[in-house]
Amino acid sequence: MSGLKGKDVIRITDLQAEEARAIFDTAKQMEPFAFRQKVTRVLEGAVLANLFFEPSTRTRVSFGTAFNRLGGSVRDTSGTQTTSLSKGESLADTARVIGGYADVITIRHAQTGAAQEVANAVDIPVVNGGDGVGEHPTQALLDVYTIEAKLGQPNGKTIAIAGDLKFARVIHSFARLLAKMYQGINFKFIASTELQMPENVRESILGAERQHQISTYDSISAISDADIIYITRMQEERFAAPEDFQKHRGKLRIDRELLDRICKPNVMLLHPMPRDSREEDFNELSHDLDGDPRLAMFDQTDNGIPIRMAIFALILDVADQVEKTVRPVNWHAPRGKPVR
Ligand code: NCD
Repeated sequence: MSGLKGKDVIRITDLQAEEARAIFDTAKQMEPFAFRQKVTRVLEGAVLANLFFEPSTRTRVSFGTAFNRLGGSVRDTSGTQTTSLSKGESLADTARVIGGYADVITIRHAQTGAAQEVANAVDIPVVNGGDGVGEHPTQALLDVYTIEAKLGQPNGKTIAIAGDLKFARVIHSFARLLAKMYQGINFKFIASTELQMPENVRESILGAERQHQISTYDSISAISDADIIYITRMQEERFAAPEDFQKHRGKLRIDRELLDRICKPNVMLLHPMPRDSREEDFNELSHDLDGDPRLAMFDQTDNGIPIRMAIFALILDVADQVEKTVRPVNWHAPRGKPVR
């Protein structure tokens, strides 16, 4: 089948373009279940250990919800203080223990490489929900799935990526996945010199040998010819000193006036969330764009469910059994997002 059976999903670097395509095809099949139009129990009896050692809202809840929507059960941890890591236990010991309780592990951790460390300690599949400044592969998959749903395959498009390119793991995975799946992308990296894209990500893009181009800028005005814009918050928790974060905060900002004035009329604007909403003058993405059809941010969050369902269904090898256990939705539910 897709070749994902029993596999870990830790880095985009390790994922084949065909495997990403299989995830997208399966996600499409999952949409009626994800958006409350049908019920499946295909993972009845299976257990997900959803281990989140760093703050999270969407990724933790959507991993859990995706597993539940396939009929499986979820055990969550949140933070480090309530786990035995705070008693000095090693991550490998924790992983080995959980590997005896669950069928899949999802993990978020502040240390780059943590998901791989867990995978090395267990014989069940591990899915990376973000490891330090490393990668966040499932976010990239839902980001690119959202692009394809709206615009089709972005071959030859100009894609501007702005914000904290150094520390934002979502960006590292996003750029790598685009480079792997498509041809001739014109990447524009917009950040201050200190926060520019790490060399290893640039190497992955050019190393794909798919006629991609890269150019770098420090002013947000470089979004003017983009077909797609992706902006992130400054990753406050990764800066060595609070002054360093304050120096960069609010330097790259997008609001409705800027989009109207300099961008293509149908530009697509993505943001992985959370956005920094604390003080208007420092918001990288203004609330005045809420509800604007150019902003796809909540399509991204909605698509987290079918994408994560697809990943679980493929690695647990049940994707072709989903239809066997279909039931109607018995509870009062809004019709949910229209299925494409
Ligand atoms: C991201 C993360 O944790 O890397 N959040 C998410 O999963 N959508 C992005 C961020 O925190 O800025």
